[in-house]
Amino acid sequence: MANYIYTMEIHKSKKSKLENIDFDNISFGTTFSDHMFICKYSEGLWNSPKILPYGPISLDPSTSSFHYGQSIFEGMKAYKDSKEKVWLFRPEENFKRMNKSSLRLNMPELPKDIFFKGLTKLLKIDSEWIKSGVGNSLYIRPFIFASSPNLQANPSKEYIFFIICCPVKSYYGGRIDVLISEQYSRAASGGVGYAKAAGNYAAQFYPTSLAEKEGCNQIIWTDANNHEYLEEAGTMNVFFRINDTLVTSPLNDRILDGVTRKSVIQLSNSLKIKTEVRPIKVSEIISSHKKGELKEIFGTGTAVVLCPISSFKFDNKKFEINPIKNSFAEILKEKITSIQYNLTDDPFGWRFPVN
Ligand code: COI
Repeated sequence: MANYIYTMEIHKSKKSKLENIDFDNISFGTTFSDHMFICKYSEGLWNSPKILPYGPISLDPSTSSFHYGQSIFEGMKAYKDSKEKVWLFRPEENFKRMNKSSLRLNMPELPKDIFFKGLTKLLKIDSEWIKSGVGNSLYIRPFIFASSPNLQANPSKEYIFFIICCPVKSYYGGRIDVLISEQYSRAASGGVGYAKAAGNYAAQFYPTSLAEKEGCNQIIWTDANNHEYLEEAGTMNVFFRINDTLVTSPLNDRILDGVTRKSVIQLSNSLKIKTEVRPIKVSEIISSHKKGELKEIFGTGTAVVLCPISSFKFDNKKFEINPIKNSFAEILKEKITSIQYNLTDDPFGWRFPVN
């Protein structure tokens, strides 16, 4: 028997907020589209999926996720091409990762139909919120949280799955400065680093605020054992270009299996850019920099796509990375965005049509 009941109710908002939105001046994640998708889980079943006008919800102060952090999310984007057709980028990967995160946080598996029917219906209803043109997109935030009103430190019996959307431009304005962490780590072996668990992000805020005091935008996280290996950058996966070879950390239970990360690896292989997926030490980066061999560092993620890093700090020293011609970050970003916006062929089958 299916573990869900699927009859979607749709209640449209009486008046769209669209006419009040200045799409050219939007800061990331602050303006939301007219509708949201919601589906609740109780007594072992996902049921009553609904599309409702976007708005606040009422929760009991004892709601389990407030106290114990049983909460996960995804990040995706919808793009509109010049013919007003809407596309997603590898949404199946987000769906699979969402359930991997759920499993790790002891949350119920979400049926594929609920994810995809909810997502595509919501995007069709709010399609006016997706502006065409490279750089414009609708950021999609699916998330699930424990909703039982209960202070027992146990897995919740009830959950809510939401999808909300916000029109966005780029996440960072340009190149960013980072601090290589010598004290803090984002994740430890055996933990939840590979899951998109809300708490992974909360735990970054304090060390990142210290890095900001040192003039850095983000932290490059190092391993929890000895702070010897480079793992991720802020909320992104991270790539290093040493001479003409791209290097990124292999996946393990501390590293998020980023959709952009895996696309960059596949793309760079297809472009015959030598790509090594292997552990990478802080000492290797410092010595490559000293020898003039460290050409680029960039982060990857849904929100940023590819974000070039202009300097890193380590042991109180600042190491600059000057912009270069034929930057791999620029080449790869251009290729990925061309696929996302339907400006080019899609040899890998990454585009997913919505309408
Ligand atoms: C994403 O790129 O989707 C992320 O997870 C970053 C987000 C925390 C803004």
